[in-house]
Amino acid sequence: MQRKTHIRNLLSLLVPIIFLVPHGHSQSISKFVTQEEKIRQEMVTISRELGVTCVECHNVQNFRDDKKKTFKVAREHMKLTQMLKENGFNGKKGPLATCYMCHRGKLMPDYKEPATAKAH
Ligand code: HEC
Ligand code: HEC
Repeated sequence: MQRKTHIRNLLSLLVPIIFLVPHGHSQSISKFVTQEEKIRQEMVTISRELGVTCVECHNVQNFRDDKKKTFKVAREHMKLTQMLKENGFNGKKGPLATCYMCHRGKLMPDYKEPATAKAH
């Protein structure tokens, strides 16, 4: 009797562990996959918004390589875009901040007012 209770207690401990472990594992894998997919989607979007391809910013042998100047500027401008989103350009009341908002499909946006306009 004593022994039986002991085994039952042991089982009640093990069962949740057996069910939780593979579940938690597969969940973290799917999370990982969606994260990868999210990055890929974001990269396709920013490329379109700047009118460039991946190689403009990346060493495609190593996507983490930050040697290119465009990569460094892009990382700063991602922070800038995020900051704009957090400060009202969130797509709810006003427009949603994107790279396109300034870049208009060009790597180097026309950010200076044309000289002729200054005369007025
Ligand atoms: C305008 C520059 C730019 C373009 C174009 C661009 N990327 Fe990126 N990419 C970045 C920056 C900057 C990061 C790092 C983001 C960070 O640190 O949060 C990044 C991160 C990544 C990562 C994650 C690397 C890692 O493991 O940390 C992948 C993968 C990637 N880009 C793939 C692509 C692909 C594929 C394309 C083309 C469809 C592309 N990128 C186009 C700038 C760019
Ligand atoms: C608020 C306006 C604004 C937003 C939003 C913006 N940019 Fe920029 N970006 C500029 C301006 C202005 C320049 C040119 C001056 C400079 O290089 O700092 C520039 C330059 C760049 C350059 C360097 C181009 C070169 O050839 O030197 C890259 C790369 C870049 N932006 C990426 C991005 C990405 C990626 C996003 C979106 C995540 C983004 N920018 C959002 C204004 C913006």
